[in-house]
Amino acid sequence: MSDITGNPAKPTGPAGEKMLERMNASHKPLRDWGLSFVNWKEGMYILDVGCGGGATIRDMLGYSANSHINGIDYSPISVKMACQTNQKDLYKQVFISQGDVTDLPYGDNLYDLVTAVETIYFWPDLSKALQEIHRVLKPGGLFLILCEGSNPSTPRPNIDGHFVVYEPQTLKAQLKAEGFHRTAFEKGQGEYIAVWGCKQ
Ligand SMILES: C[S@@+](CC[C@H](N)C(=O)[O-])C[C@H]1O[C@@H](n2cnc3c(N)ncnc32)[C@H](O)[C@@H]1O
Repeated sequence: MSDITGNPAKPTGPAGEKMLERMNASHKPLRDWGLSFVNWKEGMYILDVGCGGGATIRDMLGYSANSHINGIDYSPISVKMACQTNQKDLYKQVFISQGDVTDLPYGDNLYDLVTAVETIYFWPDLSKALQEIHRVLKPGGLFLILCEGSNPSTPRPNIDGHFVVYEPQTLKAQLKAEGFHRTAFEKGQGEYIAVWGCKQ
């Protein structure tokens, strides 16, 4: 999120491609920290929303052997990069689609885990997005949000598009309001947050 060249809200053009490559690397500490809150098992059904350059998907393949992982992003550049990053496993374990988190092209009750890494800031209709994520989760499934930024008072560069930095309490309350159970959060280094909730 610290790097805005290429538009992190919806990566476009060559600058967007370069930014996604950089984010695949620069978000690694957040992924390493935040993905450790998941109770990993073999053969999980996973969806990564706002998958960007696809590094979260690549990492999760290592955490859950024989998993099936869908990625979705509304930026065509992100879809292309996520496919490249996961080329070895594409159409075997990994399936990437272009689409919006508020209108997920998946059936009900499918996923053990939905992840959203460094993307929730850019969702104008958070409530609708959370309803969609809740719909596609299996009963007992987990939704995990990871963000590098969680202090709305920290000065940020202007972003081309919707951009809101949330405090973890706000996200936790929002998850609860949309019907998630066992909602909780952890804070990490700097402004890192992991916020999660389960479908009952
Ligand atoms: C800052 S990038 C982060 C990408 C990746 N998750 C990562 O950690 O590197 C945010 C991504 O969210 C995507 N995104 C933002 N709003 C979205 C929406 N409503 N539906 C789908 N994707 C969205 C953007 O296109 C972009 O690829």
